[in-house]
Amino acid sequence: LDNLKLNEAGHLQIGGVDSLQLAHEYQTPLIAYDVSYIKKEIASFKDAFVKAGVKYRIVYASKAFSAKAIYRLLQQEGVGCDVVSGGELYAAIKSGVDPEMIEFHGNNKTPAELEYAIKENIGCIVVDNFYEIELIEKICVSKNKIAHVVLRVAPGIEAETHKYISTGQSNSKFGFDLDSGQAQEALVQMLRSPWFEIRGVHCHIGSQIFSVAGFKMAAVKMVRLLWDWKEKYDFKAQILNLGGGFGIKYSENDHPIEPVEFVRAIIQTVQAEIKKYELTLPEIWVEPGRSLIGEAATTLYTTGSMKKVPDLCNFIAVDGGMGDNIRPALYGAKYAAFLATDPYAPTTQVATVVGKYCESGDVLVSDQELPEVKPGDILAMPATGAYGYSMASNYNRNGRPAVVFCEDGHAKLVLKRETYADMMNLEVD
Ligand code: LLP
Repeated sequence: LDNLKLNEAGHLQIGGVDSLQLAHEYQTPLIAYDVSYIKKEIASFKDAFVKAGVKYRIVYASKAFSAKAIYRLLQQEGVGCDVVSGGELYAAIKSGVDPEMIEFHGNNKTPAELEYAIKENIGCIVVDNFYEIELIEKICVSKNKIAHVVLRVAPGIEAETHKYISTGQSNSKFGFDLDSGQAQEALVQMLRSPWFEIRGVHCHIGSQIFSVAGFKMAAVKMVRLLWDWKEKYDFKAQILNLGGGFGIKYSENDHPIEPVEFVRAIIQTVQAEIKKYELTLPEIWVEPGRSLIGEAATTLYTTGSMKKVPDLCNFIAVDGGMGDNIRPALYGAKYAAFLATDPYAPTTQVATVVGKYCESGDVLVSDQELPEVKPGDILAMPATGAYGYSMASNYNRNGRPAVVFCEDGHAKLVLKRETYADMMNLEVD
């Protein structure tokens, strides 16, 4: 609740727009982004690279929130785009993202997806496994085209985060294991083939990470790898991609450093290590998802039923829930909620905010201090910009929420609310 912006009426403002007005105009649940927050984060990342005088690319991990509006914003801001499926690739291209700015991740890209990526001449495919090397080679032969690739390494680093979102350890399903020599084997295979232009190497240690230590370790290991491969194979990497995963603040329980601090630590470590081995500095790439957009959005809900059992439970139900934000149910993620019309109202109760889905696990916020709330009030849940909408479902045939982009006092609808009729679209009579 640190940096909330309130208007004269004392209501929460999002991108300069009154949250109550947003709730009235677009209905709830509504995910409202403050676009200036996203721009500010991008600018601070860019600034860190520019100040260090290094070549770089910021590649937004579009799984965090994928919509035309965000793809367009990336394009406008000169930010690259990471896609992890044919669907995201399609959406990025249809939204006008320059294919050269797209990289394609995934541990089991299908032949059709790879073919599509190669046909569209995207910037790079991040090669993840031996089967994929085979598939890419086959496609390249049939199309007589060279694939631009980056080799994904599992660097053997355990990030301190939820095990579902930790990816850098040797037993991760992602990438070629470094310590057992599989990464080197992959490099050799691709060097031998005429169909690969290997642009560089990649690693990603996990998500929602709070300490720079893992990134520094990864940078040290990866630069050592570049030195090793240069010595052995005369391999010169153009790109060193150290992934994303920079943690954000969801609630008062989190005490993250500024996301740009991760970028600074990465740059400094890479620069120092490169110097040590007397290598040429490659372009440094980072792949933030959550840190660019997570704190940019607030979800607005309308309260409905309340249930109090003395000394036992105190539920406040809202008109959304696990369908628009599965993170609390899936990861035990902690969020905060407050009254949009009076965020700092004195609290009078400890309540659990639950959704409207037919599951007891459909909880948004557990045991939080709240003021008196009556049916029809608007509750705001901040920091819901990442992995909320993108993991949304229409479970129970509750439609996905609407999404607005707010900036300079204006709101723009970017994703319509999913209607009952929309949910019938795939039915075959
Ligand atoms: N790069 C790669 C290769 C990744 O796998 C991911 C996230 C990112 C970048 C971006 O990570 P970020 O900066 O957003 O933390 N659904 C989970 C997060 C899954 C992340 C998967 N990979 C959640 O809601 O916390």
